[in-house]
Amino acid sequence: MTFPTVRLRRLRTSPSLRAMVRETTLRPANFVYPLFVVHGRDVREEIPSMPGVFHQSVDRLPGEIESLAALGIPAVILFGIPAHKDPLGRENFADDGIVQQAICAIKDANPATLVMTDVCLCEYTDHGHCGIVRDGDILNDETLDILGRVAVSHAAAGADVVAPSGMMDGMVGAIRAALDGAGYADVSILSYAVKYASAFYGPFRDAAQSAPAFGDRRTHQMDPANAREALREAQLDADEGADMLMVKPALAYLDVIRRVRERFELPVAAYNVSGEYSMIKAAAARGWLDERAAALETLTAIRRAGADLILTYHAKDAARWLQQME
Ligand code: PBG
Repeated sequence: MTFPTVRLRRLRTSPSLRAMVRETTLRPANFVYPLFVVHGRDVREEIPSMPGVFHQSVDRLPGEIESLAALGIPAVILFGIPAHKDPLGRENFADDGIVQQAICAIKDANPATLVMTDVCLCEYTDHGHCGIVRDGDILNDETLDILGRVAVSHAAAGADVVAPSGMMDGMVGAIRAALDGAGYADVSILSYAVKYASAFYGPFRDAAQSAPAFGDRRTHQMDPANAREALREAQLDADEGADMLMVKPALAYLDVIRRVRERFELPVAAYNVSGEYSMIKAAAARGWLDERAAALETLTAIRRAGADLILTYHAKDAARWLQQME
């Protein structure tokens, strides 16, 4: 059967019909909101390259958590900006480190908020690399031990999920062993399994002050040209015990999200990264794009590609827009 008997426009004639046949849902329950935590008191400073996103001190977090809960956003992912950087990034696994303090404050404010933490060295090291550096090389196996210590320290502070983002081989297995050995068998691992060496992290590196002092991340992050290799990355992390798999960035990699979704039964997360956010913000500020429509379309597309969870800086705005549309 075909036109004129078949008319696909029939099911688009009213908002109710369109809603009834909509294939993809977008709900605040899918969102993870990134928070950038800094030392100090009463700090709330907007990040210039990420309008609407702030550096905040720990004492500001309870207010933030309250507004997230009111919007139905269940989870945050924490990024810490340490007081001092050194070659190993010691504050990363210090009991009173900035992220450890933030976890405690959030769990005090609302134990139901899911706390995820980014586990990587780059925000804490003076060279800005994701691993221990020797003679200009980023060492893999020597870095795994520190990643385990960081994960255990976050778990001890109360984190629910740790998210290793450094693309070191074996990081998931090392972290799982460290967590289990320290009595944190219930803490989940969301692996940044498929993370590309992307230009779209630019604004984040301002926000986290984590740009590498020399070189780049291409010896550990993936080549944007590769998709089969993404499945190998995801397979290794699944075999090492990852509970959830992430693809990052999201927009230029929707095909990769789809392929990971089809190959694995694990929940799939996608990181709608800083550059993706800031592009929409910048265009909207010039009146070139409708921010709300563009952001919701983007987030829906990431879900349609196969992501269960979306880490996004749009989370609060999007949750508000979704509430208004109810
Ligand atoms: C590394 C990390 C990065 C992001 C999240 N975790 C940056 C990088 O790999 O250079 C990027 C997130 C974003 O751009 O929003 N700790």
